[in-house]
Amino acid sequence: MIGLQWGDEAKGKLVDLLAPEHDCVVRYQGGANAGHTVVSGDQVYKLHHLPSGILHPQVMNFVTPGVVIEPTTLIRELDGLASRGVEPRTNLMISERSHMVMPWHLLEDQAMNAMAVQGEAIGTTLRGIGPCYRDKVGRNFAFRTTDLRASDLHARIAEIVESKRDLLRGMNQPSLAAQLDVGAITDAAALWAQHLVPMVGDTTNRLLNELDDGKRLLMEGAQGALLDIDHGTYPFVTSSNSSGVGICAGSGIPPRWIKRVIGVAKAYSTRVGGGPFPTELNSEIGQRIRDIGREYGTTTGRPRRCGWFDSVAVRYTARLSGVDALALMMMDVLGHFDEVNICVAYEIDGQLIRDFPCDASVIRRAKPVYETLQGWNCDVTGARELADLPPPAHAFLARIGELVEVPVEIVSVGPDRCQTIFVDKAALLDY
Ligand code: GDP
Ligand code: IMO
Ligand code: MG
Repeated sequence: MIGLQWGDEAKGKLVDLLAPEHDCVVRYQGGANAGHTVVSGDQVYKLHHLPSGILHPQVMNFVTPGVVIEPTTLIRELDGLASRGVEPRTNLMISERSHMVMPWHLLEDQAMNAMAVQGEAIGTTLRGIGPCYRDKVGRNFAFRTTDLRASDLHARIAEIVESKRDLLRGMNQPSLAAQLDVGAITDAAALWAQHLVPMVGDTTNRLLNELDDGKRLLMEGAQGALLDIDHGTYPFVTSSNSSGVGICAGSGIPPRWIKRVIGVAKAYSTRVGGGPFPTELNSEIGQRIRDIGREYGTTTGRPRRCGWFDSVAVRYTARLSGVDALALMMMDVLGHFDEVNICVAYEIDGQLIRDFPCDASVIRRAKPVYETLQGWNCDVTGARELADLPPPAHAFLARIGELVEVPVEIVSVGPDRCQTIFVDKAALLDY
């Protein structure tokens, strides 16, 4: 399950819905920057690290090596669920190879975020994601989940803190540097170890064994493919491979096991943070989409930037991720408009472009070319099968399938599990 835009495509809803058809749900990249919403009856759950299969006790949930874990947030999530009658500790396994977002990473993110790149701030979620992945690749200052079991925790933390204080001072942030206290961090790490070590293990071999035993795995992407570190709108991206190409690297599962890729997109576009967004609507229409779709960040509460559906961007990410089936979400939100637009091409420097450009500065110059379709202008939140949708909604879905070159197989008309229409569920899940 891959987000095909800039995140928040409602992946959490779909993963929760499809989890019971699987034995395992796997989060394989990202960290607490993710905010996945699951609605179960009158209960709303906002998950950051925990896979969205966690509400189903018969489903085993895995957090694999590609994920970066911020322990305080994770423990808060675990306790929060437990206090609501869901016991996540019994069906959760965390990879010992995953890396930990340490207090210095949070401070570094804060310091870096104040700086602009290409004249604009990235506007991160301040969850320490970039600094943690940077240390993972750099190796010397990395802290893995397995390190919670080390006997020389104090020495290891002291060594890193010394360098991090220098780094923060070098960034002209002496007050942030002064916040790093070796004793306090070591004490906190001992507490994290108490909470987390019982769930820590070798997810890589466990998942390979599950596959050998014929078990069905559902892979839950975080963020969206346009935020992919290698293939997104760099540098306005996150620090992991959030497109389909990240599944294998982050989980340790070889490509031959991937049988079906579902790409999730909204019927319009949103983006949080900085970076180019060709179909952005800085207008009353954009504000209406934001209000009707309640487009405010799950993790940070920031208002999301809103715009029309961009088939140039989604065709690119669907191809990049090898998407077989499209899930189109928030069809109810577009039900409030007389007319709806779909971007079918970009005009860049006088040329018509259908292939999504590499360079953020080029994407910034893209003028969207729109096709206007009749809106359905009615409440579709009660639709439960395709026949319940009015003809203009059918025309919209068909046109998106055509432009993205992937058929729409799932349509969502509201946040609840029951507000979901499958074109042919049995065929979609036959793998
Ligand atoms: P994720 O990060 O991809 O899991 O998405 P988020 O949870 O950040 O944001 C999606 C939001 O849309 C959540 O509040 C969902 O409850 C809500 N949602 C999901 N599907 C629909 C839908 O079809 N219509 C509407 N109106 N809201 C939806
Ligand atoms: P889910 O999984 C939307 C965005 C941030 C920022 C950029 C880099 O809920 O779809 P980071 O903190 O990762 O270094 O921030 O990426 N971003 C997201 N936007 N949904 C997310 O996750 C996001 N995770 C990161 O807003 O622009
Ligand atoms: Mg989200």
